[in-house]
Amino acid sequence: MTQLPGLLDTEAIRKDFPILDRVLHDGRKLVYLDNAATSQTPRQVIDVLDEYYEQHNANVHRGVHVLAEEATALYEGARDKVAEFINAPSRDEVVFTKNASESLNLVANMLGWADEPYRVDHETEIVITEMEHHSNIVPWQLLAQRTGAKLRWFGLTDDGRLDLSNIDEIITEKTKIVSFVLVSNILGTQNPVEAIVRRAQEVGALVCVDASQAAPHMPLDVQALQADFVAFTGHKMCGPTGIGVLWGRQELLEDLPPFLGGGEMIETVSMHSSTYAPAPHKFEAGTPPIAQAVGLGAAIDYLNSIGMDKILAHEHALTEYAVGRLLEVPDLRIIGPTTAEERGAAISFTLGDIHPHDVGQVLDEQGIAVRVGHHCARPVCLRYGIPATTRASFYLYSTPAEIDALVDGLEHVRNFFG
Ligand code: ALA
Repeated sequence: MTQLPGLLDTEAIRKDFPILDRVLHDGRKLVYLDNAATSQTPRQVIDVLDEYYEQHNANVHRGVHVLAEEATALYEGARDKVAEFINAPSRDEVVFTKNASESLNLVANMLGWADEPYRVDHETEIVITEMEHHSNIVPWQLLAQRTGAKLRWFGLTDDGRLDLSNIDEIITEKTKIVSFVLVSNILGTQNPVEAIVRRAQEVGALVCVDASQAAPHMPLDVQALQADFVAFTGHKMCGPTGIGVLWGRQELLEDLPPFLGGGEMIETVSMHSSTYAPAPHKFEAGTPPIAQAVGLGAAIDYLNSIGMDKILAHEHALTEYAVGRLLEVPDLRIIGPTTAEERGAAISFTLGDIHPHDVGQVLDEQGIAVRVGHHCARPVCLRYGIPATTRASFYLYSTPAEIDALVDGLEHVRNFFG
């Protein structure tokens, strides 16, 4: 068995994930390499979700009965766990949403409805990058269309990194917001936050960071990032689907207007007007994803019990190994950085002229789950002149043996397609 320095005890960790024992067609064991799409759920989180529904289920912030108080304490307790996990100065800076897309849409809409000095209008500019997930492109396109603001973006270098050579021309006095991904879901690239934040601060622009592919994999400190907003999602970090987070600086959350209206987010309502609850509740209209937030809290407990530093080291070792092994496969081209430095554990590639959907299907026949397509980042495929990629992505339970299985599987794909 391949041993690499820095690996976690995956034999023990994998016992926490019942799904990893699944045996698929022809008795093949599941090799799950689609963690950038969604991670698997440990028994510790499944148990907390079961207990929530079996013992505590009720609506939050409304009832005076025991279950309502328990559910509220669990939901708000999850907020505390998130705040601590990302080193937020205050728990009131943590807004629960349903996913990272909703978090990013929330920021775009806050700014669209805001008064000065935050308002985005036809005299202002929005800056994103060419490597964004559609969830960090489309909300800004919508905002630009509605307000007349200009959408600008950083391009990409041939080796899959952000081209910041023209940073002073892209981020200017007109820029109101710079929104970019910390770790790309398709290229794996980890972006230089500091340089972008420094320039944004120089011109007084707000900074929003999409940390969907970072929060599950590395220590995340929103104070160190010096951003104004940070978005991520629960289901990529051992939590359930249906729960996302928007962290925002307190004074911004206080100043900016709500986007969704309804119960929970108000202070008083008359037929003429309403006043709003303080943040974060101002941004959480309606019954929130209660069980899902509790599940996310359990996922955070689980990740903390392993240690985010150790998870990062594990994935770094695996990524280095995987890049090396994949580059041995004839005709394989990695789309993205080909070193393990400043990159995450999602590796996209093409294999000669075999369509990625065919690659994915033949791998699936061998029990190997990868994602194929444009990964909701179609501009990246356009930039590199490819229709799609095959993407393998790792997590704390991934092993070198699974990378070997992928490489063997790709050899089989090449033989299959001659
Ligand atoms: N954003 C997820 C992915 O990259 C769905 O696969």
